[in-house]
Amino acid sequence: MPQPGEILSNRQLKGEYFKVEFYVPEICEKTAPGQFTHCQIARLRDRMLRRPFSICNVTDDGVLTVVYKVVGEGTEMLSTLPAGEVCNLIGPFGNGFSLPAENQIPLIVAGGYGSAATYLLAKNSPHSGILLLGARTEADLIMADDFAKLGFEVKVATDDGSIGHHGLVTELLEQTLLETPEANFHICGCGPEGMLMAMGKMLLAEGLNGELSLDHRMCCGVGACFACVVKVVDKSVLQGWRYARTCREGPVFKADEIYYGPEHAEA
Ligand code: FES
Repeated sequence: MPQPGEILSNRQLKGEYFKVEFYVPEICEKTAPGQFTHCQIARLRDRMLRRPFSICNVTDDGVLTVVYKVVGEGTEMLSTLPAGEVCNLIGPFGNGFSLPAENQIPLIVAGGYGSAATYLLAKNSPHSGILLLGARTEADLIMADDFAKLGFEVKVATDDGSIGHHGLVTELLEQTLLETPEANFHICGCGPEGMLMAMGKMLLAEGLNGELSLDHRMCCGVGACFACVVKVVDKSVLQGWRYARTCREGPVFKADEIYYGPEHAEA
């Protein structure tokens, strides 16, 4: 059921990144980490169209937070909406992440604003863990402090070396797995497709598994545009894979569900 979501606050976090808080208790009470909502953005010309947004956080008193990047007309309009404006929201949608067990250490790998889509997972985990956060440059790193406040150890990588490890966040993952081979990690990732594919292949090569959110691929969010398809393993067909719509079957997939190409397929 669509719900009116009154904007409580809407502010710039950094550069093109914004954070909006909606009062929408009906969605908050059902939301699990990694799920998304469809938002009809008020004042938008084609406002009948809904946009999918990952849910960053929900609170017991009905506040749902979305962190978004201004990338087009919709998000540009959203960034101008003041407190008191009402958008129309539906959800939550998607399968979401599973929570770590008591004896597992959450190990979250986030690229860009993938940190927003994994924040609720960190918050709802039984104890703190490690966040590996990567971005092109320091200006694209967001929410590191929010994870640190939850007690997470935060390690940062940037492509240009402006802060933290100079290189890819998957290199930090490799290092972490090498340094602590005996650790019982609950591994989750969210970020650009290249990062997630590299991460998935690395986990399988190490005999591990993990949960990867492909939410960055979504466009319509309702199964209509097929912009979000990903190849998933399907041994019942000759080629060994089929297309899955991220918005319908995801956005979270296990690393071993994703098809990485014939060279990575099991014999
Ligand atoms: Fe359009 Fe999935 S986002 S079909």
